[in-house]
Amino acid sequence: MAKILVTGGLGYIGSHTVVSLLETGHEVVIVDNLIHSSEEVLVGIQKITAQTPVFLELDLRDPLAAKQIFDAHPNIEGVIHFAAFKAVGESVEKPLDYYRNNLNALVYLLQACSDYNPAFIFSSSCTVYGQAAELPIRETAPVLQAMSPYGNTKQIGEEILQDVCAAQPDFKVSSLRYFNPIGAHPSALIGELPLGVPQNLVPFITQTGVGKRPHLSVFGKDYPTPDGTCIRDYIHVVDLAEAHIAALNRLLQKKQELAFEVFNVGTGKGSSVLEVITAFEKVSGQSLPYVWAAPRPGDVTAAFAHTQKAEEVLGWRARFSLEEAMASAWAWEQKLLS
Ligand code: NAD
Ligand code: WQD
Repeated sequence: MAKILVTGGLGYIGSHTVVSLLETGHEVVIVDNLIHSSEEVLVGIQKITAQTPVFLELDLRDPLAAKQIFDAHPNIEGVIHFAAFKAVGESVEKPLDYYRNNLNALVYLLQACSDYNPAFIFSSSCTVYGQAAELPIRETAPVLQAMSPYGNTKQIGEEILQDVCAAQPDFKVSSLRYFNPIGAHPSALIGELPLGVPQNLVPFITQTGVGKRPHLSVFGKDYPTPDGTCIRDYIHVVDLAEAHIAALNRLLQKKQELAFEVFNVGTGKGSSVLEVITAFEKVSGQSLPYVWAAPRPGDVTAAFAHTQKAEEVLGWRARFSLEEAMASAWAWEQKLLS
């Protein structure tokens, strides 16, 4: 079992992945600057796993921070790089903050790695596909012009990684293109902690469910979909965490032949906004107040993953249903009240 560096390991997806890593016997070094998380998350990880991973409070925008990590832990065999900013709208207002955090920090991290060639996993996004011409979306679908600086950081991040792979023969990267992560750990000890008013659908629904918001606004009712609302591929965050373990173990076992590979991480099933609301109503036993609102600029009509590559190459597939994911999101939201 290997020592794995998890950047952004106290964030939403990072914390669930740390749990999966510890549960599968890996040793974990978490790096986080706590800008979008808190040390309380570490307590949740400890309660779930009965283990205490190393935690280093460092900001990867500092050009020397990544080097410090490898100086202290030269035997790191794998890196899972979650640390980044992720709010699409904010990235339009503050593009340079996004390029600095999502790209400069990546470059510093790669520089610090260059003497060690660890297995490297990058958090990419289905946003790189834009509105794909064919559904479900295969990894071979073209990467379209990014709709936001955030999306651009994921596209450029993948390009940087491909260039580094070409220059460093022993460096291998899996880029995981997440669809829409939702839900929380079944223990309700860790979950998503959105800052301010949630921009994403599921935390907005659960906050409406507990009365923190008066109603959900459903963005658009005349999309060319069966019920007129947008379709997405909502994946339980625990499934997503497990996809990282599968990709990491393949890299560590030297089974990845290509230097750079991309994988879709989704369920393969598209659900409309109304279907997500219905799933929430079923698992919570209460109706959700919502109003119709104008379409949100930049939203694509439909996106869901072709999952064959992840299934065949990684031996991974999502196991949780939309209802199970919504039930866990609801349990987490209620836990936050206490
Ligand atoms: P998150 O904000 O919950 O977690 C990111 C973590 O990184 C936070 O704990 C934050 O404090 C930390 N961080 C940010 N900048 C840092 C820096 N400079 N130095 C050290 N730590 C830093 O986000 P998340 O939802 O867990 O997303 C993780 C990754 O997955 C991101 O790269 C994101 O772009 C990507 N992603 C997320 C989604 C999604 O919908 N959540 C979808 C696709 C891709
Ligand atoms: C889902 C659906 C909305 C809120 C975003 C990023 C993407 C990726 C995942 C990081 C859409 C509708 C939403 C609301 C609504 N993140 N909606 N009312 O836009 O698919 O993806 O998160 O990489 O890059 O863009 O997710 O949860 O915001 O929206 O009707 O209050 O819910 O229109 O159809 P999205 P989302």
